Amino acid sequence: MNKLAIYPGTFDPFTLGHLDVLQRASRIFLRVILAVSADSRKKTFFTLAERLEMCKSAVAGIANVEVASFQGLLVDYAKSRGCKVLVRGLRAFSDFEYEFQMALMNRKLAPDMETVFLMTQERYSAVSSSTLREIAALGGDVSAYVPKDVARIMASRFGGKRRSVK
Ligand code: COA
Repeated sequence: MNKLAIYPGTFDPFTLGHLDVLQRASRIFLRVILAVSADSRKKTFFTLAERLEMCKSAVAGIANVEVASFQGLLVDYAKSRGCKVLVRGLRAFSDFEYEFQMALMNRKLAPDMETVFLMTQERYSAVSSSTLREIAALGGDVSAYVPKDVARIMASRFGGKRRSVK
C-alpha cells in the first residue's frame, strides 16, 4: 500500500488548479508532500521563499499535507522521503506529451516510482501559472484563479490597477 505521495512542481505561482489537484490527492493518500522545486528548469518570477509561503498558506487547512522544497532530481528526493508515488495534474490533452515524457524519464531513473495523474476541475483547465503572471503584470485581476494569499503576494509584486478576468 502506498500511503505517501509527492505532488511536485515549480508553482510560480501556486494556483487554484494546483490546489484542486492537491485536494484530490489528499483524499486518496494518507499523506501528501507538496514539493516545491528549488532549481526548476524554468527561470522563476517568484523566489523560492515566496513560492513556499504561497503554498504553505494555501494548504493550511489540509491536515495531511506537508509543504517542502527540494533540489536535484525529483526521484532522489522522493526516495529520501521513502515515497514511491508522484502525483501530477492533467488539465487538457496538450499536457499529455510533456507529462508522459517526464513520467517515463522518472521511471527510467527509478523503476519502482509510479506517477499518478489526476484531472483538474474543468473550470481550471485553462489556468496556467505563466498566463496568470502575464495577466497580473498587465493589470488584470487573477483573484478568481489563485488562493487569497497568493493574490495578495501577486498584487504586492505587480501592483497597479486590476481588471477582472471572468
Ligand atoms: N492547475 C493550474 N496550472 C497547472 C496545473 C493545474 N492543475 N497543472 C499544471 N499546470 C501548469 C502550471 O501552471 C505551469 O504552467 P506554466 O508552464 O505556464 O508556468 C505548468 O502547468 C507546469 O508547472 P507546474 O505544475 O508548477 O510543474 P512543473 O512542470 O513546473 O514542474 C518539475 C516540473 C519541478 C516537477 C520537474 O521539472 C522536476 O521534477 N524537476 C526536478 C529535476 C528532475 O528530476 N528532472 C528530471 C525530470 S524527468
